[in-house]
Amino acid sequence: MELPFAESYKIKMVETIRRSTREEREEWIKQAKYNLFNLKSDYVFIDLLTDSGTGAMSDKQWAAMMLGDESYAGARSYHNMKDAIKTIMGFDYFLPTHQGRAAENVLFSVLVKEGDVVPGNSHFDTTKGHIEFRRAKAIDCTIDEAFDTTNLHPFKGNIDIKKLEEVYKSHPKEKIPFVVLTLTNNTAGGQPVSMENIKAVAALSKKYGVKVLFDSARFAENAYFIKTREKGYESLTIKQIVLEMYEYADFATMSSKKDAIVNMGGFIGFKDEAVFRQACTYNIMFEGFITYGGMSGRDMNALAQGLDEGTEFDYLETRIKQVAYLGNKLIEYGIPVQQPIGGHAVFVDAKKMLPLVPKEEFIAQTLGVELYLEAGIRGVEIGTLLADRDPVTRENRYPNLELLRLAIPRRTYTNNHMDVIAAALKNVWDRREQMKRGYRILWEAPIMRHFTVELEKIN
Ligand code: F0G
Repeated sequence: MELPFAESYKIKMVETIRRSTREEREEWIKQAKYNLFNLKSDYVFIDLLTDSGTGAMSDKQWAAMMLGDESYAGARSYHNMKDAIKTIMGFDYFLPTHQGRAAENVLFSVLVKEGDVVPGNSHFDTTKGHIEFRRAKAIDCTIDEAFDTTNLHPFKGNIDIKKLEEVYKSHPKEKIPFVVLTLTNNTAGGQPVSMENIKAVAALSKKYGVKVLFDSARFAENAYFIKTREKGYESLTIKQIVLEMYEYADFATMSSKKDAIVNMGGFIGFKDEAVFRQACTYNIMFEGFITYGGMSGRDMNALAQGLDEGTEFDYLETRIKQVAYLGNKLIEYGIPVQQPIGGHAVFVDAKKMLPLVPKEEFIAQTLGVELYLEAGIRGVEIGTLLADRDPVTRENRYPNLELLRLAIPRRTYTNNHMDVIAAALKNVWDRREQMKRGYRILWEAPIMRHFTVELEKIN
């Protein structure tokens, strides 16, 4: 008999989570104004709001924390982090920052000017925010296949080379500070970018004199997909694939809360010493001295260890197979999800799941609240609330896809939890014909409204 798959770790420490009753949840979510961000985490049984900073550190990471050197300048922990980044990604220069968006803030302060354009593959919200804040424009060049949830393209995170060349042809190179490759492509569903595409983007960018930035939050998960899906990479290690990927990057911004498996931290990688030197000034102003950048020594030590663990095949296989386990269960139940299943999350197609709820009543949010009421599970809306209003007309923007993202924290839940999530969604799916109404807004902030919006149920 073939042996089944099992996790590549055992559990040394646990945290109690509490189930609740439907009556309790009805009261709590009403008090939270039907905004899942407003819930106390104690009111949540399985928390899939994000995979960012929510993973479980290993015994070796905790041991590394005890060895943290808290010196203001030149700490041993800084050098451990520097060595890990050099070994794993090949960058000679780096700056620590407190998280990913801080890395964007520092690097873009050097590189992005008013009137610039920055092409990429579905820029993450904060990346786009840091571009638009500087009065520059983010241009999405993701392949069209990414927007069809049933298309089984193995690398749906890819950049469309034709769209990218169009941007390069229609703007002078001085107006294009870099192209950003988001690995994996979070917004498109945790979808990977192939090595072939990385090479093609780098070659085209070289031809037009444009630099390449990797938004690296889930770079190791991306390498796992290259190894398991792309011809010629089957027998290479994850670390070999990662080194090859980064041959094509000029810069990297990293949210270490994802693939470096720490609760807080980030960094910028540079090949160019001149840009590094300019960025040092901004790092000192915004983050902290260049050898700690908003991180404590113990956190830099845990990060260095996490980068090493996060690029091990056995760890990644356990992680990505768990996400696929949940995704495949949902597919088995007939529930519409973004396919193929991505690296860090399962994205449920809310329009297909709740066909009777009008788009003006926030379909994916309605599904998110319903899943919470069903079983105390918290996902996050990627739909009309997140898409916000048009800055000029102030009308709601209705995106093509209304998604509920179920992000899986690393090494945190077991497959029993995945079974509960799948069963809860199945129960909602089975009563979809009865769900006809959603929510109306009582209060919203002028930008980034989804974090704080207050809603009321429409009866
Ligand atoms: N880039 C990507 C692709 C991300 O997914 C995130 C964060 C960031 C940059 C910013 O990093 O949070 O450390 O400042 N994504 C989280 C999420 C918040 O839930 O997907 P940060």
